[in-house]
Amino acid sequence: QVSWKLEDHPKLPKGKTIAVVVLDGWGENKPDDYNCIHVAQTPTMDSLKQGAPEKWRLIRAHGTAVGLPTEEDMGNSEVGHNALGAGRIFAQGAKLVDLALASGKIYEGEGFKYISESFEKGTLHLIGLLSDGGVHSRLDQLQLLLKGSSEHGAKRIRVHFLTDGRDVSDGSSVGFVETIENDLANLREKGVDARIASGGGRMYVTMDRYENDWDVVKRGWDAQVLGEAPHKFTNAVEAVKKLREIANDQYLPPFVIVDEHNKAVGPIVDGDAVVTFNFRADRMVMLAKALEYQDFDKFDRVRFPKIRYAGMLQYDGELKLPSHYLVSPPEIDRTSDEYLVYNGICTFACSETVKFGHVTFFWNGNRSGYFNPELEKYVEIPSDIGISFNLQPKMKALEIGERARDAILSHKFDQVRVNIANGDMVGHTGDIQATIVACKAADEAVKMILDAIEQVGGIYVVTADHGNAEDMVKRDKCGQPLYDKNGQLQILTSHTCHPVPIAIGGPGLAPGVRFRNDVPDGGLANVAATIMNLHGFVAPNDYEPTLIQVVDN
Ligand code: 3PG
Ligand code: CO
Repeated sequence: QVSWKLEDHPKLPKGKTIAVVVLDGWGENKPDDYNCIHVAQTPTMDSLKQGAPEKWRLIRAHGTAVGLPTEEDMGNSEVGHNALGAGRIFAQGAKLVDLALASGKIYEGEGFKYISESFEKGTLHLIGLLSDGGVHSRLDQLQLLLKGSSEHGAKRIRVHFLTDGRDVSDGSSVGFVETIENDLANLREKGVDARIASGGGRMYVTMDRYENDWDVVKRGWDAQVLGEAPHKFTNAVEAVKKLREIANDQYLPPFVIVDEHNKAVGPIVDGDAVVTFNFRADRMVMLAKALEYQDFDKFDRVRFPKIRYAGMLQYDGELKLPSHYLVSPPEIDRTSDEYLVYNGICTFACSETVKFGHVTFFWNGNRSGYFNPELEKYVEIPSDIGISFNLQPKMKALEIGERARDAILSHKFDQVRVNIANGDMVGHTGDIQATIVACKAADEAVKMILDAIEQVGGIYVVTADHGNAEDMVKRDKCGQPLYDKNGQLQILTSHTCHPVPIAIGGPGLAPGVRFRNDVPDGGLANVAATIMNLHGFVAPNDYEPTLIQVVDN
């Protein structure tokens, strides 16, 4: 029995409007030409930094601080927003899958038993991101799953991969495909009919999110399920090399592998088993719906095969989707929003489509929907679709800023929470000039929100979920930029392991409030208790400690 009542904070008042601003992909790094946040004009964020150490500090946003397996794991938005919202550190999908594979428990679970019923007569299809980035999936986990599935009875296996270039370097896809081809050849030697069946780039095929563009999922469906695609090859390594002449890894067009009669080698048909091997939810949930829902109107599936489908994890705890899964997801319960809503706090949350679920679904522990619709309002600003964000680097920052401003000025909400996507989404394109524009736009949106907080006498908390825009190149051990053999700068499209800033302030902040100095290792998970304090409450005992103290003047 959960006791939802939060104790009153002994010193801090209630009733202040609090803006919680999450800058996506905004880390702290040494200043140089490849630190776009440094190069860009960011007067608002610069002025917040002047408040250090009392009102500005750095917090950890990667590795074990956010529940990832190792300190080498860069942060990402899923684990970052989970930590921000839940106030505790949970072992995340990457880690849970590692453990289940290492112990072999994955093969004893309900999900694997369910799909393995199809192994006798049907094909096992594995669909997911081919990458060692560790954000949505991991290559070594796919390798183990391939081996383990064949040892546990799969006789015919087809791999449908999405190429990355976003959490890893562009061009790395070729090596990953070679690795998998090699593994599949080994399986074939053991008598398993194992092959690659289709592929495509993650941003163009399958891995859309938050229902931004169903065409992306449809392109994948056509290749994976129907065995139809604009490009046909007999060899996947050749396919990727050839298609890279017209697009980068993130945007490779869909292709299918065909046999000598030009027939697709692995469409999904009645009686087959399917596993989506991404552990992260946001970019798999749409495909999961297409694979699982009988009633479905997002695109014409043409054929809806009767399959046994399991996710690597269950992707949505509220929708219970998919209903079968190989590994149980982290049980992120009692998130800060749920507490705050029980304690009467009215919340407004807003972002543009591509990050909308970050401040809602991830923030609330991978749970879609409201806790109490009377007290919560979520606003989604539609993202531009079908465009790479380096061509539109301002994205919807100002629109988000305006909506947040209006929500603050309306006096209807106690908490106004936003995610501003620019540093991350444009940073992922690897376009340095565009990322500089992106950072400036994000800074302007922050200003708009802080001005509104000033007007209503409120409080702000400005932070970020992980690094990205503050470093756009790969570096050697001494931090110098790396060049490839043709003398080209090696661009870093991925997130980083840098810490992120957090700043507090605003006219409503009680005079003695400042950051404590006894939580030097503080991370994203410490933010929830901090926000609860600013709402006038003490956080639950098992939350990570607050970052602030109140000094008597
Ligand atoms: C993506 O899905 O766009 C990237 O893999 C991770 O980005 P995010 O964690 O910032 O959403
Ligand atoms: Co990102």
